[in-house]
Amino acid sequence: MPSPVVVSNRGPLGFARGADGSLVARRGAGGLVVTLGPGAQRDGAVWVAAALDDSDREAARGVTNGAHGGAVVEDGFRWRPVLVDRGQYQAYYDVVANGALWYCLHGLWDLSRRPRFDRWWRDAWKSYRAVNAAFADAVADTAEPGATVLLQDYHLALVGRMLAGRRPDLRTSLFVHTSWCGPSELAVLPDEAASELLDGMTGAGAVGFHSARWASAFSDCCRAVLGSDAAPPTFVAPAVADVGDLRATAASAACQRELDELERLVGDRQLIVRVDRIELSKNILRGFWAFDEMLETRPDLRGKVVFGAFVYPSRQGLSDYLAYGQEVRTVVDLLNSKWSTDAWTPIVLDPDDRYHRSVAALRRYDVLLVNPVRDGLNLVAQEGPLVNDRHGTVVLSRQAGAWDALEPHVLGVNPFDVSATAEAMAAGLDRPRALRVGAAERLVKVLEDSSPLRWWDQLRDAAERR
Ligand code: G6P
Repeated sequence: MPSPVVVSNRGPLGFARGADGSLVARRGAGGLVVTLGPGAQRDGAVWVAAALDDSDREAARGVTNGAHGGAVVEDGFRWRPVLVDRGQYQAYYDVVANGALWYCLHGLWDLSRRPRFDRWWRDAWKSYRAVNAAFADAVADTAEPGATVLLQDYHLALVGRMLAGRRPDLRTSLFVHTSWCGPSELAVLPDEAASELLDGMTGAGAVGFHSARWASAFSDCCRAVLGSDAAPPTFVAPAVADVGDLRATAASAACQRELDELERLVGDRQLIVRVDRIELSKNILRGFWAFDEMLETRPDLRGKVVFGAFVYPSRQGLSDYLAYGQEVRTVVDLLNSKWSTDAWTPIVLDPDDRYHRSVAALRRYDVLLVNPVRDGLNLVAQEGPLVNDRHGTVVLSRQAGAWDALEPHVLGVNPFDVSATAEAMAAGLDRPRALRVGAAERLVKVLEDSSPLRWWDQLRDAAERR
């Protein structure tokens, strides 16, 4: 049986310098390693992923000369690095993948000003194509005959088509972790980029999504751009959080220490929590404005509730993200100066990426706010209920893929409606214990019923069926 191959931009491992100057491997950031990791470890998959920074590059250079068959072996993972020129990588990652495709798929553009698809952007598109080709080369060199290849996400949309030509023996699927947009939103992309993107994706044997909504939007785009018969088989397989791993973290001494510190800060007040990357699609600002409106309309809650925002930097190469992070801090300062008293700071902003601290916050919430503008799935909405100690309530955007499975047990919101979000948060805080306990227990039941290994098997089956 050939080893399966996972292919993603961000890999399972990241490297940093230890105190003694040596390179230390740590688990990569982001949701992909949480959802794909257990299956990749169990089946001994080779994971083809980019070297993201200088430390990664150095670790990668140590193996590209043939050691371990070209893979870094660590923590049960086999990482086969892809090393590309820095400038080219930046154009692929910052300009095309995150600066254009991400905005398009999540409906984030402020169309009166942006995007501007000029000659500079078209050069970046060439880099996107070149980096996809470098990934395709790495897979073609690495994959054993007849191997199953699980391509991941919008960064690598062209790899399926490239491999179909070079290695027809491989059985490929592409899983898209984002939402997908409708044809009119996709039509913002330059015509030739939109058709190359979709044609590249249809080169994979099957294309998967977390929600049926995204799968049907994708098929609509294929019909509109490529013609009536062009839509490839799609499949829907919502990923799930790793219950065992998460609960082990929640039960750890490090998490307990963070929780103790949080308890000292919050006292006997109720706590609203959000845990997110500082990311435009996460809708962090409207969450604060909703909190402000809640305090305006519900004077009885003033001094009685704290909003803990555990948000951490992301995609710092994009000026919009830097500006958004600044706006987050400004709005927090503004609202804290409006509402604070000697005894109460209404919003606690924690802008560091501290995993144990975030899990501690998930244990402590009374209301978990997950209000993305649009989101492929949203793992936080799953992780919260699995570790929460207080039968808290989840307020969830109807635009998140996670909504499909969790809808009956959460309070749904239109993420653009600040007043409705304020009302939903207040309703969560007011909820009588019996209602909260019932909903929280049903949520946990839904979430415990699935596992990353089962999800991984669905991805493999979809690729192997072709
Ligand atoms: C989303 C994408 C992932 C990505 C993650 C973090 O969930 O679907 O592919 O890894 O965001 O973003 P980053 O740019 O830091 O990898």
